[in-house]
Parts: sequence; structure tokens; C-alpha cells
Amino acid sequence: MTIGIPREIKTGETRVATTPAICRRLTALGARVLVEKHAGVRAGFTDAGYRAAGATIIASAERLWRSADVILKVKEPLPEEFERIQPGRTIFTYLHLAAAPELARELVRKNVLGIAYETVESPDGTLPLLKPMSQIAGRLATQVGAHYLESQVGGTGVLLGGVPGVAPAHVVVLGAGNAGAHAARIAAGMGARVTVLDLDSHKLDVLDSEYHGRVVTLQASPANIGHAVAEADLVIGAVLVPGARAPVVVTERMVRSMRPGSVIVDIAIDQGGCVETIRATSHQEPTFVKHGVIHYAVPNMPAMVGRTATLALTQATEPFVATLAERGLERALTENRGLARGINTRAGRIVNPTIARLLGDHGELATN
Ligand SMILES: NC(=O)c1ccc[n+]([C@@H]2O[C@H](COP(=O)([O-])OP(=O)(O)OC[C@H]3O[C@@H](n4cnc5c(N)ncnc54)[C@H](O)[C@@H]3O)[C@@H](O)[C@H]2O)c1
Repeated sequence: MTIGIPREIKTGETRVATTPAICRRLTALGARVLVEKHAGVRAGFTDAGYRAAGATIIASAERLWRSADVILKVKEPLPEEFERIQPGRTIFTYLHLAAAPELARELVRKNVLGIAYETVESPDGTLPLLKPMSQIAGRLATQVGAHYLESQVGGTGVLLGGVPGVAPAHVVVLGAGNAGAHAARIAAGMGARVTVLDLDSHKLDVLDSEYHGRVVTLQASPANIGHAVAEADLVIGAVLVPGARAPVVVTERMVRSMRPGSVIVDIAIDQGGCVETIRATSHQEPTFVKHGVIHYAVPNMPAMVGRTATLALTQATEPFVATLAERGLERALTENRGLARGINTRAGRIVNPTIARLLGDHGELATN
């Protein structure tokens, strides 16, 4: 099997789909690994490192896509990459097809076996290839929020941890899942006063036991959210209803109630955002101000820490990629049910039921 690793071309993207150490394992398993020139540079991995691990460096993206049986990526192929996609081959990457009907159509039209990181499952039904990126985004959210509270960038000038004799910032986290729990962890670690709200009382139990009251947990009723947001310095949105648009839990009225110079970081922006006043921003222009409140909503936050994010992502994908290299496509997908759950398109059809329902079987947007 020939595995191709293209250089990511999405603006601001710094991650790469494999490391030299994993390349070495894949070549030992008998795979041929092709890496596009400079693919790992922004994550701190040199071409020489990949070469020493047994990979072949290819200068032309077109040649790499033509030569590989399996393309291993980070981000979904962008329209500029569509013509590189070869009929009948395999692509293993984040696909997010529900938000990319054009890509879905392209994969269906070319009979591509599209395996999406985001729908690969662990035996317990959790999503192992989504989790590390949520954890990173959660941790970053607190760090980013602390920065935008600084006076020079228009913030209230409140130090997250305060100092002895002066109160710390109040950080309100909506959602106690992967991203929210990690945002709360960093906020508590920095000395902030932290409140976490969720509808799932089990998630709140876990946080309560872990922090022994150091983090306040609240049921996510509109009244509790409204009260917490009104006195927050930093609000972090991290709610998710799998497969659906994020619920709007912070209304415009609540945003108006916040102090000018306070900050909202809406991690859930990739699912539409959970704050009524939010819209997606980018690494080039990460914030905008509405009702005096600084709004941050970058959909690919992990690209800010390309090295850590690459190591976390590739550690999670490695067992699945190694299975593909060792067993071959058909056997790997038959034997590994969790990996097979990742199949979104196959033989000219959308096979993931949720995406098929949303887009129509052939990648046409459903009208209802
Ligand atoms: N912006 C980025 O760069 C980035 C990176 C990674 C993940 N994400 C996004 O972060 C979001 C959170 O992901 P996750 O892995 O933490 O999800 P998760 O499923 O682990 O946690 C989501 C939590 O939201 C809670 N929730 C759902 N509806 C709620 C409501 N109405 N009120 C309060 N709580 C509610 C759930 O009970 C759950 O605990 C997702 O949208 C994910 O795609 C964004």
C-alpha cells in the first residue's frame, strides 16, 4: 500500500497527518510512504526526518496524489485540491461532509472511499479522533481568553488569576465535555474563579469530585446561564449536540448584560456557535466586538499549536493507519468495526446515514 501525506493548504493550517516516528512504523509494516516536500515544517518535522524514517519526499502535490492508494490528511480537501483527487482511491482525514456538500459530491462522483476521522469510533462509542482536538481547543480557549482580557487589546484589564488581595477573573464555561472540561482545568490552574454549566448532571458530578468545589458546577438552565454570563469576565462556549447545529445557549440579551471589554470564546463555532451574536472568525482576524464584548470564534484553533496538535492527532490516528498498512484496506475495514464507522462515502454513495439524510444520497443538499 502506498500512503501519501500532502502538505495542508488551508489558510493558517500548521498540522501534518503523520510524524517521522509513525512513518518508520508504517514502512516497517510494508507500506510505502510518500510525503510532500515541506509537509511537516510548520509542525517542526523536516523532510530529512521523514527521509531518515524511510519516506520518499515528493515535490509535486499532483504527483503525490496520483501515486498514493491512500491519502492521509488533516483537513478536508479544499476545492483547489478537488482535481488532485484520483477516482477509486481512499482518503482518510477530517471530512465534515455535512458542512461540505461540494466535497461530498466530488467523492461520490469519483467513487472515493472517504473515511472521516470524526466518525471513527472506539468500542465504547466515543470518537477517539475528535477528542484530542477538542481537548486542545478547550485548553487554548482559556489561554486565548486570558490574552484578550488584557488592556492593550481592548480587554477589561483583569488578570485571570488575580493577585493576593484582588479577586481573580470569573470564567464561565458552557459545556462540560472534552473541550469544556479542559478549558475549566486550565482556568482553575491559572487561579480563576470557574463556573461550569451543563445539562448532563453526570458530567457535573465528575467535575465536582475532581475539583472538590474549587470549580462551581451548575445545571445549564437559562436562568443559571443568564446569571453566570452577566457576571463573567470570560465566557467559553463548548456545547455539542452530536450531528446537529450547536444550540444557542447565550442570547444576545445575555451578551448585552456583560461588562464592556469582557471576552467570549466560542469553541463550538465549527457547529454554528452557541452564542447568538457569534460569527466565525479566522487566525488572520480572530476577534470582533459586539455590544462592547470581544468575540473570538476561530473554527480551527488547534492549528495555533501545530506541534502539539500534530502529536496529539497522529497518536490518535496511528493505530488505525497501522491497521490499514498491515491488513490492507478490505481486511482492516472488515475486522475493525470502529474504523469502518469512519466510512462516509464508498462506491459512489454516501454511506453514513446521518450525512446521507442531510445531503441526500448523492451529495445533493436535502431541501427539507
Ligand atoms: N473551534 C475549534 O477549533 C474546535 C476544535 C475542536 C472541537 N471543537 C468543537 O467544540 C465543541 C465541543 O466539543 P466536545 O468534544 O467538547 O463535545 P462533548 O460532546 O465532549 O461535550 C459537549 C457538552 O455539551 C453539553 N451540552 C449539550 N447541549 C447543551 C446545552 N443546551 N446546554 C449545556 N450543555 C450542553 C453536553 O452535555 C456535553 O457535555 C464541538 O462543537 C466541537 O466540534 C472546536
